[in-house]
Amino acid sequence: MNLKGRDFLKLLDYTSDEIEYLIDLAADLKAKKKQGIPHELCKGKNVALIFEKTSTRTRCAFEVAARDLGMGSTYLDPSGSQIGKKESIADTARVLSGMYDGIEYRGFGQEIVEELAKFASVPVWNGLTDEFHPTQILADFLTIKEKFGRLKGINFVYMGDARFNMGNSLMVGCAKMGLNFTACSPKKYFPSTELIAECQEIAKTTGSVLKFEQDPIAATKGADVIYTDIWVSMGEPVEVWEERINELSPYQVNMQIMKNAGENAIFMHCLPSYHDKNTVIGKEMCERFSRDSMEVTNEVFEDKCSVVFDEAENRMHTIKAVMAATL
Ligand code: CP
Ligand code: NVA
Repeated sequence: MNLKGRDFLKLLDYTSDEIEYLIDLAADLKAKKKQGIPHELCKGKNVALIFEKTSTRTRCAFEVAARDLGMGSTYLDPSGSQIGKKESIADTARVLSGMYDGIEYRGFGQEIVEELAKFASVPVWNGLTDEFHPTQILADFLTIKEKFGRLKGINFVYMGDARFNMGNSLMVGCAKMGLNFTACSPKKYFPSTELIAECQEIAKTTGSVLKFEQDPIAATKGADVIYTDIWVSMGEPVEVWEERINELSPYQVNMQIMKNAGENAIFMHCLPSYHDKNTVIGKEMCERFSRDSMEVTNEVFEDKCSVVFDEAENRMHTIKAVMAATL
């Protein structure tokens, strides 16, 4: 498998075999790290990390992975560079290509990271856009493989806002890798009809079954994985909270949902999560709307079925695999 020089912008650009290769490479690099075996596969290289939105996991994953691979990294924070305000994406791409061997970008529209990749002469990796979060899916699928020993045939249910980066990317990932995907939400939160049609075509070749269900109990019966994400994503206005809470409350992941799924079902979340009042925004919104939690109850989040911190760790191993494979 040769992925040298490739961008990693969305899973739609990658074949099932290529995605499997990245997940397996991540497992291999994870084992090496645990055993203390050095793996400076990109020694002497440098990467630029552009973040137009904030981050904990993705930033740390890129920085630690870069160091483990023997690389230097530069973090450009949401306010500390010229990008967008004084310098176009096309110019930024050409400037950074002269100094770095790879560029990570987190920001708003998918078209921005695609533009960056078009003008850059080095690989560009998507660290989250409004439409897609492909490195997160690699981490999630590595986690599922660790827990169940396989991806094919896993019954995967995504609850909540399924039309944004996580719902979109998970649907694509499931279609590509042969997991059965159910989006569970009110109709308006289903992914776009265009993306569903594209995924249905992919699903025909992998045996994946895609479903769109509004009833949480029907959707989650017998599921292997229950996945959710925050109801209001980065970049969305604070005014949408009320509507989201009203519309998505029936889709909160609670113990009733997990019991309905079955005793071996796992709970997944890309994080960060509003599962309690221990954050500024979580506290404010919980108090304003008289709630204890948002998309998942604290009981589920802290339960043994929850694998959210395994996913978080796997961000690093999978991002390392993406950089090692494409550089
Ligand atoms: N899951 C994820 O992308 O987390 P961060 O926003 O902290 O990077
Ligand atoms: N949908 C979330 C994902 C965070 C990792 C957001 O875009 O804020």
